[in-house]
Amino acid sequence: MNKYEQTKQHLRKNTSTWLVTGIAGFIGSNLLETLLDLNQNVVGLDNFSTGYQKNIDQALQDSGCNNTDDRFKLIDGDIRDLETCEKACDGADYILHHAALGSVPRSIEDPILTNQSNIDGFLNMLVAARNKKVKRFVYAASSSTYGDHPGLPKVEDVIGTPLSPYAVTKLVNELYASLFNRLYGLETIGLRYFNIFGKRQDPEGAYAAVIPKWVSSLLKGEDVFIYGDGTTSRDFCYIKNAVQANLLAATTENPDAVDQVYNVALNARTDLNELFEIIQTRLCSRIPDLPKVKPIYQDFRSGDVLHSQADISKAANLLGYAPTHTIDQGLDEAADWYIGALSA
Ligand SMILES: NC(=O)c1ccc[n+]([C@@H]2O[C@H](COP(=O)([O-])OP(=O)(O)OC[C@H]3O[C@@H](n4cnc5c(N)ncnc54)[C@H](O)[C@@H]3O)[C@@H](O)[C@H]2O)c1
Repeated sequence: MNKYEQTKQHLRKNTSTWLVTGIAGFIGSNLLETLLDLNQNVVGLDNFSTGYQKNIDQALQDSGCNNTDDRFKLIDGDIRDLETCEKACDGADYILHHAALGSVPRSIEDPILTNQSNIDGFLNMLVAARNKKVKRFVYAASSSTYGDHPGLPKVEDVIGTPLSPYAVTKLVNELYASLFNRLYGLETIGLRYFNIFGKRQDPEGAYAAVIPKWVSSLLKGEDVFIYGDGTTSRDFCYIKNAVQANLLAATTENPDAVDQVYNVALNARTDLNELFEIIQTRLCSRIPDLPKVKPIYQDFRSGDVLHSQADISKAANLLGYAPTHTIDQGLDEAADWYIGALSA
C-alpha cells in the first residue's frame, strides 16, 4: 500500500480537527470534501471575496454531509483580522492555509490588496497558529516563486527573481513560514502548486485560470484567447494530486520533511496550443454538435513566466507523494464536471 493510501486509512480511524482557510474557493472546497469523506472535523474560514457558498454546499453534498452536520463549522471572516484568525485556529490540530488573492494580473493591477491578504493575512495566520499551538501549518505556496529563473524542471532550492507582486507575496510567505519554524518551533510546510485544475475552479471573471475559462468559453460558444503564440507551457496538475500533497504534508512523521517547500505537479509540460486541442477534443467527443473553433492569439501578458515544469522528486522522497492523475485523466474528470455544472 502506498503512503497516501496508508495516510487515508489512518485518518479514517483517527479523527482530528482541521482548519481550512479559503474553504469557499477551488482548492479549499476540494480539501473540505476529502477531509469530511475521511471522517475528519473541519473548520472553514473564508471572506467570500473570490469563493462561493455554493462550493461549500457542493463539497458537503459530494462528501455525503450536510450543513447541519456537526463535523463542519464555517467562519465567515477575514484573515486580515488577527482575532478572527485566532478564533479559527482555536482547537485546530492541522491548518491548511489557502486563503489568498490569486492571479498574477490582479496583483499587477492592485498590489496593495494582494499584499494585504497574502502577506498581512498570512502573518496573522502564522501568529494565530503559533499562539494556539497547532501541530502543523501547511500553506499554499506557488510556482510563481521561480520567477525569471530559466532552469527546467524547477527544483525547490533554485529560484529566480519574482515577476509580479503575487510572486513576491508567495516568496515572502515561504520566508515567514521558515522563520516561524526556527523562532517559535511552529511546524510549517509549503506546497508550491503548479497550475492546479479541476472541479469548482471558477471559470468566470477577468482573473479566471486558463482551463476553466476555456472550457466555459467553448461550451458557451465564446471566443477563446491565447496570450502569446501558444508555445507557453505549464505543468498542469489535477486537484486530487494537490489534495494528496496536503494530507501527506500535514500528517508526515518524517522530521526531515518539515520546514520545507515542495513542488506539487506532475513533472510534465503541456503548451497552450496542445492544451486547447486536448480540451476541444474532449468537449466535442462528449457534445458532438459543439462547433469546432480556432483560438485567437493576443499579446503575451506581462508577469507571466514562459515555461514551467516541476521536479517532483523532493515531494516523492520526503512525503511519499505519488500523483494519481495525469493531465489527461484529470481533464476527463474535469470536463465531465464542467459540462454538468455549466449546463445545470
Ligand atoms: N489554483 C492554482 O493553480 C494555484 C496555484 C498556485 C497557488 N495557489 C494558491 O492556492 C490557494 C487557493 O487557490 P484557489 O485556486 O483555490 O483560489 P480561490 O480564489 O478559488 O480560493 C481562495 C479563497 O480564499 C478566500 N480569501 C481570499 N482572501 C481572503 C481573506 N482576506 N480572508 C479570508 N478568505 C479569503 C477567497 O474568498 C477564496 O474562497 C491560494 O493561496 C493560491 O494563491 C493556487
